[in-house]
Amino acid sequence: MIGDQNSKIIVVLGTGGTIAGRADSASDNIGYTAAQLGVADVLADVPGLGALLAGQALVSEQVAQIDSKDMSFAIWRALAGRVCHHLAQPDVTGIVITHGTDTLEETAYFLHAVLPHALQNTKPVVLTCAMRPASALNPDGPQNLLDAVAVVLTPGACGVVAVCAGVVHAALDVQKNHTYRLDAFSSGDAGPLGYVEESHLRLTRNWPLALDGYALLAIYFDVHELPWPRVEIVMSYAGCSGALVDALLLPAAGVAPVQGIVVAGTGNGTLHENLEVALQRAVASGVRVVRATRCANGRVLPTGSSAFVDSKGLSPVKARISLMLELLTGMGAMPTLKNETL
Ligand code: SIN
Repeated sequence: MIGDQNSKIIVVLGTGGTIAGRADSASDNIGYTAAQLGVADVLADVPGLGALLAGQALVSEQVAQIDSKDMSFAIWRALAGRVCHHLAQPDVTGIVITHGTDTLEETAYFLHAVLPHALQNTKPVVLTCAMRPASALNPDGPQNLLDAVAVVLTPGACGVVAVCAGVVHAALDVQKNHTYRLDAFSSGDAGPLGYVEESHLRLTRNWPLALDGYALLAIYFDVHELPWPRVEIVMSYAGCSGALVDALLLPAAGVAPVQGIVVAGTGNGTLHENLEVALQRAVASGVRVVRATRCANGRVLPTGSSAFVDSKGLSPVKARISLMLELLTGMGAMPTLKNETL
């Protein structure tokens, strides 16, 4: 614990990532191994954190220790459970999650979709990360952590957001759009939620409100080992054969039958004709198909001419999570919990 034991608490949940990564040489920003330092050690390396806390205490907990490219449903379930548990404590101001940059947007969207409305509409859950390992000459993790804590401490802060390079993004919009730069995330057309400047948040939009639909799933995840519906992503491109879709429909050893396919279409979600007929075969065999776009910006606008529903502005990876949750609730796994609040 950092800070006063009897005060309000900020909980930092560690999941690994580059922010906890180490390389053999301080000059190496890419040849590192992610998830080497425990979250308590990562926090111990943040100058100015004690002063920023202004009387609040900081408690850390290691939920996972992974390179986020390997994110799993089991870790999401555990993370959602711990976030719910801590947010429900009256003395907890909010939560910071240290996470790898590679799937941060997926975890952020997942938590935004499943956390109880009453919790995420009153307290903040702030994911943060780093593009350089903790061993770097000039690591970005400590500043990102300070900024994340500054967001939690902002009066009125709520919802699931991400902070990187001084920019605050809403979970719904955030997308990693650069492989190397420290400012690796974008909110696309929506624009950032705000900026952290010298530990002060300049908010440019309203705090995000919880999505309708899947609230309380997190609590359900805490106690049930639900089988996650299998949803895969395919892409449309020049010369596309559609054979990948047909392959997905075949039984495969060790994996559940596919229940959903998100297709990252060209432009406004258009599909190569070969892919389109393959996806129609998928629908005919009972598979749900959702049409997103491979464009980094913009959303699929309905034209009335496609047989497949669009992703309602979600990127392919977020549309996949949304479809999984929809299939999960549609399976009758937790019908009475849908749309409830604590
Ligand atoms: C990861 O996503 O865990 C590794 C890459 C990163 O954090 O930048």
